[in-house]
Order: sequence, then C-alpha cells, then structure tokens
Amino acid sequence: MQKLVIEGGKMLCGELKTQGAKNAVLPVMAAAVLCKGVSVLDNCPSITDSYCAVRIINCLGMKAIQSGGNCTIDAAVLDDNPTIPDRLMREMRSSIIFMGTLLGRIGRCNLYYPGGCDLGPHPIDMHISSLKRMGAQIEDEGEKITCCAPNGLHGCSIALSFPSVGATENIILAAVCAEGETVISNAAREPEICCMADFLRQCGAVIKGDGSGRIVIEGVEELKQPEGEVFGIYPDRIAAATYIACVASAGGEMLLTDCTPCHLEGVIPIFEQMGCYIKAFGSNIYIHKRDTLTAVDTIRTMVYPGFPTDVQAIVMAPLCTARGTTVFVENIFENRYRHTLGLCRMGADIKAEGKVAVVSGVKKLHGAKMDAPNLRGGAGLVTAALGAEGTSEIASTEYIDRGYENIEGNLTALGAKIRRISSG
Ligand code: EPU
Repeated sequence: MQKLVIEGGKMLCGELKTQGAKNAVLPVMAAAVLCKGVSVLDNCPSITDSYCAVRIINCLGMKAIQSGGNCTIDAAVLDDNPTIPDRLMREMRSSIIFMGTLLGRIGRCNLYYPGGCDLGPHPIDMHISSLKRMGAQIEDEGEKITCCAPNGLHGCSIALSFPSVGATENIILAAVCAEGETVISNAAREPEICCMADFLRQCGAVIKGDGSGRIVIEGVEELKQPEGEVFGIYPDRIAAATYIACVASAGGEMLLTDCTPCHLEGVIPIFEQMGCYIKAFGSNIYIHKRDTLTAVDTIRTMVYPGFPTDVQAIVMAPLCTARGTTVFVENIFENRYRHTLGLCRMGADIKAEGKVAVVSGVKKLHGAKMDAPNLRGGAGLVTAALGAEGTSEIASTEYIDRGYENIEGNLTALGAKIRRISSG
C-alpha cells in the first residue's frame, strides 16, 4: 500500500511533456493481436493498465514487452482456445475489448466480466448484442463468457443505442477482418477511437468515418504492421487536462508540450471561464493562473466532443475555491461523485445527489487524509491537495497509477512538494 503525501500551497512552474493516452494504448494493444506478426508502438504510457494489457496478451500465448514508452507485440502465434483469467479481466474495464479482437482473429475466446474503477453498473449488453449480430455465439454464464463464431464473423449494420466507446472499439476490432462491410451508426467519436483506427489502417485495415458518428469498415483478409513502421499513441487529453487543473488549483504557469489542443475543445473554455489564461499553439498549451478563480456555468458531462466525464472530478478541485457556485451534471456514469467526500474533508462545500453536484466556493481548502476512490477521483484529490493549505495524504494510489505515469515526478519537476510513501 502506498500513499501520496502533498504539502499544498506551492506554486507550479515549468514545462511538462504530455504522456501517451491510457484509453488509446489499450485498444491499440488489443488491435495488435489481430496482426499476424510484430507490431511496434511508441509513446505508450508507463501505467499499470497498460502493463495489464501486456500481461493479458502474454497469457494468450503471444509475446508482448513494454519498456518505457516502447511496446513490441508479437502476435504471430496464439493459443487455440484463448482464455483470459478472471483476475486479469477484473483489473480493468478495457479488458472487454479483447472479446472483439479474439473473435476477429481466431473465432473463439473465453473471458469474464471486466472490472476496473467502480463508477456504478457497467453493463456490456451493447458489446454482446453487436458481436452476436456479426455472427458470434456468446454464452453468458453469470461470470464467465464463452464466445465462438463457428462460421466466422460477417459485416452488418449496427445502430448503437448510446455511443459507447468500448462497444464501438469492440465492433471495429471484430469487423476489420470479418467478411463484408460493417456500418456502425451512433458510434462513439472519441479521439481514442481514431487512434485505434489509425493503427489498424497502418496495418492494412479499411476503416472510414472514425471521429464521426458513422463508421464504415470493409473486412480484409489479413493485417500486418509494415516492417520498420512504428505507431505512436496519441497524447492523453485527460492527463493534459489534469496537469492544467493542477496549475489552476495551485497557481503558477506551465507549458504543456506534445499534446493535441483540439482534443480539449470541450475543456479549455472551462479553465478560461474560471479566469485562467490559456493559449494553445501547435502541440502546446500554455496556462497561467494568478488571481482568484470564479465559478463557471453548469458543467454537463457528455460524450466527445462535449465535456468529458473523466475530467469532472479533476475540474471540480480548483472550483472548490472559486468565487461563486458551480453546478455539475454527470450524465455518463452513475457513481462518479465519490471524490466529493475527500474534497469535503479538505473543507470544500459540495452537495452531491444523483446526477448533480453543487460546489459552493470556499476561501481555501486545508490538508486532510483521504482515500483515492477511483482513478480520476484520486487525480481530483491530488489536484485539490496541491492548492490546499497544509499536508494531505492520499491513500489507494494504485487507482491513480492505473492512468498517470510518474505523477509525483512530474509534479515535483513543476515545483510541487509531493512524495510517495509506503504505508502499512
Ligand atoms: N454502457 C451500457 N452498455 C454497454 C456499454 C456501455 O449501458 O454495453 C454504458 C456504461 O455503463 C456507461 C456509458 O454507457 O454508463 C458509457 O460507457 P462507455 O462504454 O462509453 O465507456 P467505456 O468504454 O467503458 C471509456 C473509457 C472511460 C471513459 C468512458 C466515457 C476506456 C478504457 N475507458 O469507458 O475512461 O470514462 O469511455 O468516455 O477507454 C477513465 O479513463 O478513468 C475511464 C473510466
């Protein structure tokens, strides 16, 4: 067990390179399983979720190695009847996208219900019904899911009832080597889908329309990354927003490099409304926070390009000490206000009920002992602690490590007083 100990009130100043995106590297690694050969990726984040994907690939008889930002996946040979054990499935929600990729590659797989952060119920009904329409037989035996496609997968038209990121990824993974054309309508438009599609196209897939609500996939015989090519994972827009929020909370200025500002179009205006100076140029974002922040108009989480649910907890942190009241409406997950408990321990005034949280700005927050409730909630607590008076301790760092590479190192380089200690 580890804790992050943060002495708040230190201004941040400096330059930071944006890490590769967690939610892009996971589907790209799953996509590499479709390639009959070696795939080389770079800009992979060193986070526990990506190491979990590496373990899943290795346990299926293939060879994956991640070292720093580089990952090599040799998917030439895999088990005849691939099974992902319960303990690996439970480590992250994203493990479910191996269902589409394994059905697409070998026509069968056995797996369990995925785990991940507890953000409320996380059904996979859209994943299952879509793959069934493509010819898969899926038996859901409570915990265990047995899948096969005795006659192979075939393309079809799938209209999603909600633009689920994971279901869109699973369908694309199943469709790229299926027979014929698959059309997904009401598809998720998140940049991470485009990242996975870019990788698949590099390997020979025919995919059109990613980034829009209508994606068309024409099945091909075989996928392979051309020799000598390396695929770069997109920058992490959520990590970028997190470090911007850290500056908004603690004060100071930062140049964030190697990011894609247009992926943050739903987020940057919120920081500007708060009173931060933000300038995006090329692949950089500069942020400067000097004065007291002000509350912003109602923040409603939405699918991309709207305000991301993953940034809700993170932006709430600086708003706890803004002048005025900010209302949040969480539309994507049912149980995504658990961080408000920690924020209130630090002295925040937040009333959360159902989908709505009302944050009334207080003069300042004070240090407290807290538990990270999940990945982004934990990042929100770190963000708040940087701006609070006194020392905070944040336990359950394993949640934060699922998505943030070297968070204490990055913040220390920016001037924060933060260290990791082992506890109990
Ligand atoms: N949903 C269903 N049925 C389904 C699939 C989804 O009802 O078959 C519901 C979910 O319960 C949820 C909503 O649809 O209420 C959105 O779920 P979605 O499938 O879009 O999310 P996901 O693919 O499970 C990804 C990210 C999340 C991010 C969401 C929304 C990855 C690995 N995870 O999850 O990231 O919050 O999209 O943008 O890509 C995080 O990084 O901390 C994180 C949770």
